Amino acid sequence: AQDSNKFKIGLILPMTGQQASTGRQIEAAARLYMAQNGDTVAGKKIELIVKDDVATPDVTKRLAQELIVNDKVNVIAGFGVTPAALAAAPLATQSKTPQVVMAAATSSITEASPYIVRSSFTLPQVSVAMGDWAPKNGVKTVVTLVADYGPGNDAEKFFTERFQLNGGKVIEKLRVPLRNPDFAPFLQKVRDAKPDALFVFVPSGAGAAVMKQFLERGMDKAGIRMIATGDVTDDDQLNDMGDGALGVVTSHHYSAAHPSPANKKFVEAFQKANPKMRPNFMAVGGYDGMRVIYEALKATKGQGGGDALLAAMKGQIFESPRGPVYIDAQTRDIVQDVYLRKVEKKDGQLYNVEFDVIKGVKDPGKAK
Ligand code: DHB
Repeated sequence: AQDSNKFKIGLILPMTGQQASTGRQIEAAARLYMAQNGDTVAGKKIELIVKDDVATPDVTKRLAQELIVNDKVNVIAGFGVTPAALAAAPLATQSKTPQVVMAAATSSITEASPYIVRSSFTLPQVSVAMGDWAPKNGVKTVVTLVADYGPGNDAEKFFTERFQLNGGKVIEKLRVPLRNPDFAPFLQKVRDAKPDALFVFVPSGAGAAVMKQFLERGMDKAGIRMIATGDVTDDDQLNDMGDGALGVVTSHHYSAAHPSPANKKFVEAFQKANPKMRPNFMAVGGYDGMRVIYEALKATKGQGGGDALLAAMKGQIFESPRGPVYIDAQTRDIVQDVYLRKVEKKDGQLYNVEFDVIKGVKDPGKAK
């Protein structure tokens, strides 16, 4: 039986390997949430069990199984990449354990189990905004370059559809492998095609490499702009990308420079606890995911099993560091504002500075 005085959260994250920054950001944010909100909720002592899945779905599955069966966790959470979230979904369903997806962002993930709730975002949610902005701002022709898996396919599809609807022309669609990508041959193709802009999606942690090669090849000087989802100008790496990144426009749901009092408090507290880090969109997904879990535990007065907790997660409305959000009770996906941002220098540091907002965006992937 579950230890009745404890409430266990199994946090499965990539702590090592190519996606390690995602794990580092989410763990730091989850620990910050606990430090700020206490580790006793509705009479239960919260225990966070962190496991490293190296973003490898077979490992995710084994860890989820062990956490559910041996550790008897009340919730599984984290999931740095789409294949990891999908690998755990059947176990969440079988054991009726809520699965809080804090990072992975392919639209279809929430349909893989009725026990999944998402606190991150979806690629369709943020890509459509760029498909509207670009053609109104001098970008008539585009080549797309995306990581070749779920979120990249979503970004390509939803950006392209909206961009074409607005009269834009997509000259070529390029897909780069997720593992150890070499961007050079793809960028050469883009140079030859000479579009007004290159639209990019790569997962968190890979943006700096794309930016470096884009600039080294003089793409910007050749008159090709970079436009992207905010995964590319990731706050975890942006400040090290150099002045070549200035002026890059992206669409996303979170910037560390978001000018709300709640975000200023969040960034300050995060950096006080982690002096070498700037919180990125992964950190906010982790922080808000913990909020969803804590409030569900409170609402069920510490008595809830998986189904009761899940019901108390659905429909939560709150002010996130990113802005106002809610968990759609039908889709279990997060509804949030999406911002257009431009890389600018503030106090000697590079930031994604928001200049426009689309309010209350639901995942467009769910309408299909
Ligand atoms: C996913 C991973 C990322 O690092 C990201 O920025 C977006 C999506 C994913 O695998 O779903």
